[in-house]
Amino acid sequence: TRLVSAPALTRRAFLTRSAALGAALALPLSRVHAATVRDFTLTPAPAEAALVGAPHPPTAVWAYDGSIPGPELRVRRGDRLRVAVENGLPAPTTVHWHGLRLPNAMDGVAHVTQAPIAPGERFVYEFDAQDAGTFWYHPHYASAEQLERGLSGVLVVEEDEPLRVDRDVVWVLNDWRLDREAAILEDFGNGMDMSHAGRLGNTVTLNGRIPDAFAVSTGERLRLRLVNVANARIFALRFEGELPVVVARDGHPVAPHEPPEGIVLLGPGMRIDLVLDCAGNPGARNSIVDVFPREPYRVVDLAYGETPLRQDPLDASLVLAPNPVPEPDLASAERLDVVFEGGMMGGMRGGPGAMRAMIMRGLAWAVNGVADDGMHDLPPILTVESGRSVVLDLVNETAWWHPIHLHGHAFRILERDGAPEPHAPLADTALMAPRERMRIAFVAEGAGDWLLHCHVLEHQAGGMSAILRVV
Ligand code: C2O
Ligand code: CU
Repeated sequence: TRLVSAPALTRRAFLTRSAALGAALALPLSRVHAATVRDFTLTPAPAEAALVGAPHPPTAVWAYDGSIPGPELRVRRGDRLRVAVENGLPAPTTVHWHGLRLPNAMDGVAHVTQAPIAPGERFVYEFDAQDAGTFWYHPHYASAEQLERGLSGVLVVEEDEPLRVDRDVVWVLNDWRLDREAAILEDFGNGMDMSHAGRLGNTVTLNGRIPDAFAVSTGERLRLRLVNVANARIFALRFEGELPVVVARDGHPVAPHEPPEGIVLLGPGMRIDLVLDCAGNPGARNSIVDVFPREPYRVVDLAYGETPLRQDPLDASLVLAPNPVPEPDLASAERLDVVFEGGMMGGMRGGPGAMRAMIMRGLAWAVNGVADDGMHDLPPILTVESGRSVVLDLVNETAWWHPIHLHGHAFRILERDGAPEPHAPLADTALMAPRERMRIAFVAEGAGDWLLHCHVLEHQAGGMSAILRVV
């Protein structure tokens, strides 16, 4: 499903309208050229979805506009989005724009950047799509429950000059914990999931259903936008018989390269754009297998049609133009260690007493010794001026994997366990292995409180979240 936006309003029309409403909006002058305003409405509400398919009954879900995944929002770089969210849920909600660099007030974090949107109420998000790439949106209120019930969707921001491909395809990977009637098990936020690997499900879906095969043609060039919206499942995808090339990560272009050992590693919240020159024989099938350390299983087959599209791969560049993300200055940067602790087989620097105190509050994880209970009313771990460069040494002192997400920024991954990170990619979510250290750097942008948290949503609910304050 793709939303067609309402007739575009010009920036001038927008300005006149907001002025009439008395809205005080600080608009950078450089952006007052003719940005196109794209209007969307999203209605999160209870719905049904055929996740599993016959003979199983449909699954009761929460969905944006009745669709799993939510409607694909597609805009051009430089467009201004105006998204009205009308809450049709029996619970409060918000919408967070994962990976976008936007004004803090539009970041959608309940209790931090806005009050939750009550049932029946409406909230309008409005921001510019500064960067091209693959992004996504989801609630940031009771996230562990609301994403698990089905609330998430993809936002594609097209480049000024997109790659030349035969097809641009979005694959939303999700993981559900269903019972025999294909109903969602409502054991959200239990202590077992919280203190271990998060809520792993038993049903993996691609674009909202258990897939069998995805039809391609031999010689066809796909741009495959992989988005992991699962609460906790990490995917390690091996493309049998194919050589995928990574061209972007969390939306931001990287030097085109084959993934290490041919495996595309995708933690919760992460996106990877691949180019695939389909190489299988006409009429054949190749499997895409998840080989993350546990029982490997087939995610989907590529099924090659009888008629090849072309003999030799398309002769076109795989290099995307970079986004206008400011480059951090390492020499003058503010530096901070960010230590993640807790979980089973973990422990805390503060000793068993600190661990016990945390568990008494129903929490399991801490960042620099403090566990966030979700109201986010803790002192920030760092306060910096906008424009200042920041280097964070992330230290995973736990026995678990954690995809660490920073709101509102794209950071460079510089090092992992002291070794330079290949391609030093820009990212908004970086997967840390147990006991791993990672050095990231970015320029603090935009006054406000920005979350830094684990995107295993049960870990986040269990305290693994902190605030970075930009002033
Ligand atoms: Cu994708 Cu704090 O979120
Ligand atoms: Cu985690």
